[in-house]
Amino acid sequence: MSKVKIAVIGAGDRGKDRYGAYGHSHKDTVEFVAVAEPNPLKREDFVNQHHISPENVFSSWEELLAVDKLADGIIIATQDDMHFEPTKLALEKGYDVLLEKPMSNDLKETVQLGELAKKFDNTFMICHVLRYTPFFAKIKSLIEEGVIGEVMSVQHNENIAYYHMAHSFVRGNWRNSDESSPIILAKSCHDMDIVLWLVGQRCKKISSFGSLSHFKADNQPEGASDRCLSCGVEETCPYSAKKLYYKRLGTWPTTVVTDIQTEVALTEALENGPYGRCAYKCDNNVCDHQVTIMEFEKGITATFNLSAFTEEQNRTLKIMGTKGEIRGIDTKNQIEVRLFGNEDYTLIEPEVLTGGHNGGDTGIMNDFVSLLKGQEGKALTSADVSVESHVMAFAAEHSRLSGKSVDIKSFYDEMV
Ligand SMILES: NC(=O)c1ccc[n+]([C@@H]2O[C@H](COP(=O)([O-])OP(=O)(O)OC[C@H]3O[C@@H](n4cnc5c(N)ncnc54)[C@H](O)[C@@H]3O)[C@@H](O)[C@H]2O)c1
Repeated sequence: MSKVKIAVIGAGDRGKDRYGAYGHSHKDTVEFVAVAEPNPLKREDFVNQHHISPENVFSSWEELLAVDKLADGIIIATQDDMHFEPTKLALEKGYDVLLEKPMSNDLKETVQLGELAKKFDNTFMICHVLRYTPFFAKIKSLIEEGVIGEVMSVQHNENIAYYHMAHSFVRGNWRNSDESSPIILAKSCHDMDIVLWLVGQRCKKISSFGSLSHFKADNQPEGASDRCLSCGVEETCPYSAKKLYYKRLGTWPTTVVTDIQTEVALTEALENGPYGRCAYKCDNNVCDHQVTIMEFEKGITATFNLSAFTEEQNRTLKIMGTKGEIRGIDTKNQIEVRLFGNEDYTLIEPEVLTGGHNGGDTGIMNDFVSLLKGQEGKALTSADVSVESHVMAFAAEHSRLSGKSVDIKSFYDEMV
């Protein structure tokens, strides 16, 4: 059977270490044939791992997309502010595209990408990996089968985990909305998307509250210094870079901190780079806790709570229906179905799919590859559909900043 050929733009954490890794375990169906990556170490690593021919190795997306189409599909895994242009060009060149989320940091660009998805016949999907996890897929099918009657309300929580918050949203790539986007978009467009998908109705109104309360200079502990390696109170600080990165050498998130995974290189990065900074003395501005409430077209209500202040990194939810409840914790891969009037409950443990995001990274690649192979139909996370969850995230942020509840349709009409 012939393999599908894939090119990668941005061989970073997602492009190289997640989607690239899929290539290793699916050698009979997929071949990575081209890469665009400016960082020479990452580029070389990707080239060596996938034996890419020299003529298909590029330092930027501009160069890769300037030559004739050289693969069936393309994965665009550059940073959030570098999604729109390469995606537009890749679609015009006839590539099927798998684009990382968020589609764009800009609402108008997001909407334009949704329009392009309708204009072109190509597959154009967004990496909303949660839809592809057996956990969320099972909950969706239980709802559709009417197991808990009619859904009335949803409680959904994104438990970011204290260390993940410190890494990505205090010291790291998504710490400052002027450079990336508000956390409700950067992190939680996934959650807007999953709630939207589960309830199966359009969102009518949204309100949001939240702030950056903890990770700021006022809260720096007495005696702390501005870098963890020279800090006198580091041992008592849960956000210590020393505690976070040394024990994870060779794995995420330490792989993000330095391109070379040795103690010497890590120490150098923590002494001089952004990830060694005191969590109270960074140039971060995104919320560390935010709550969002939603009303859907036919009256379903939902709350979404994102918080840095959790020990575990996972998503927990409760769906409340007229005949019962569904409760779940995604990392445990366990779903409880409790029907009213029954003392017992049913515990469902969906199949386990290996790969990041509880199997979602594998699931989305399986779908992309099937579509590249000619499978009929549309992706579960087609870009035209994903626009809606992004609009919800932009509207939620508008509500948080304005202090007003936002009518989604009016917001869209006004902003787009
Ligand atoms: N789907 C998910 O659940 C999920 C999870 C994490 C991150 N993401 C998203 O994935 C994207 C990538 O995140 P990441 O953590 O891999 O970031 P990263 O910084 O590790 O990777 C981005 C790569 O793009 C490269 N790059 C920069 N300029 C380029 C250019 N001109 N041409 C080609 N490549 C260029 C960088 O050198 C870097 O290696 C982001 O949009 C992020 O928000 C999605």
